[in-house]
Amino acid sequence: MRCLVTGGLGFIGSNFIRLLLRERPEIRIVNLDAVTYAGNPANLRDVENDPHYRFVKGDVADAAAVREALKEPVDAIINFAAETHVDRSILDPEVFLKTDILGTHILLEAVREKKIARYLQVSTDEVYGDVPQGESSEESPLRPRSPYSASKAGADLQVLAYWNTYQTPVLITRGSNTYGPYQHPEKLIPLFITNLFEDQPVPVYGDGKQIRDWVHVEDHARGILHVLENGESGNIYNVGGGNQRTNLEVTEQLISHCRRSPQTHITHVADREGHDRRYALDTTKARALGWEPRVDFESGLHSTVEWYRANEKWWRPLRSGAFTDYYRRQYAHR
Ligand code: DAU
Repeated sequence: MRCLVTGGLGFIGSNFIRLLLRERPEIRIVNLDAVTYAGNPANLRDVENDPHYRFVKGDVADAAAVREALKEPVDAIINFAAETHVDRSILDPEVFLKTDILGTHILLEAVREKKIARYLQVSTDEVYGDVPQGESSEESPLRPRSPYSASKAGADLQVLAYWNTYQTPVLITRGSNTYGPYQHPEKLIPLFITNLFEDQPVPVYGDGKQIRDWVHVEDHARGILHVLENGESGNIYNVGGGNQRTNLEVTEQLISHCRRSPQTHITHVADREGHDRRYALDTTKARALGWEPRVDFESGLHSTVEWYRANEKWWRPLRSGAFTDYYRRQYAHR
């Protein structure tokens, strides 16, 4: 199979590419990535000379760049390219509409024009909005509540509209909160780990009792591959780890792994605007397809802390420069 992976220098995309190269030796991959603050060439340093892998720098929201990446025919497009950070979408929403919605539209047009056999949209459980109780199934209504999740929901609706209107062979995966190696230190788990390494406090939003459903990136990437190979066109598949934890529970575990103390290191700061209290995914449909998560949350969290401990050279540059300004803008007033 030949495939175009977009956003393959990001967290989940780079883990997915590494999985493909490892487990599908015949694969040919083109990675189209705009190399934004979150698209990091160091994420794929170990495979960049692999003859089965080719990198093209470009933005999914730029039709010419997409055409260039598709010069050689592909059998599938897997779209990871997105602005993903909720807090940044609250500060600057516009780029989310451009990358997440317009970018998806441009890719869908390419799939239609070139009659590409499969298109997989990597989406998120955040499109279901706040879930006070129970679990979201693929049939649950879309109730996105942040500029980020509204952009992702808009993209999902475009994807489904192409299936309905043109029978474009699409699939959607909706993943839950993902953690593991190569995650940018703006996100809860790597931010807290690296703060703790530096003996800095960790900023818990509000009461910290919000619940997220965690999945290890290896399980998430395997779920996407499984749906790509086995899913039925026009369908959505939830990919979640089934590990519902409050942010405080996760924080306390990280503090213990980093050998710090909750009393000195937890700082409760002003809550995120419009913060969803709880996400929870029903993954029956993906499990019926033959996928299930394998990584136990407690050991996955421990190995993630150890990965960051061993890879300071990877994360240290990400916490400097523009990140320092973002951190100040995001946290100084809270
Ligand atoms: O649920 C899937 C989503 O998970 C993905 O679609 C998003 O792209 C991804 O960013 C993530 O969204 P969250 O907003 O849940 O992730 P984040 O790591 O920003 O925050 C996780 C929880 O931790 C959330 O309840 C907010 C809280 N939090 C986060 C940060 C960065 C804090 O309490 N303090 C913080 O400094």
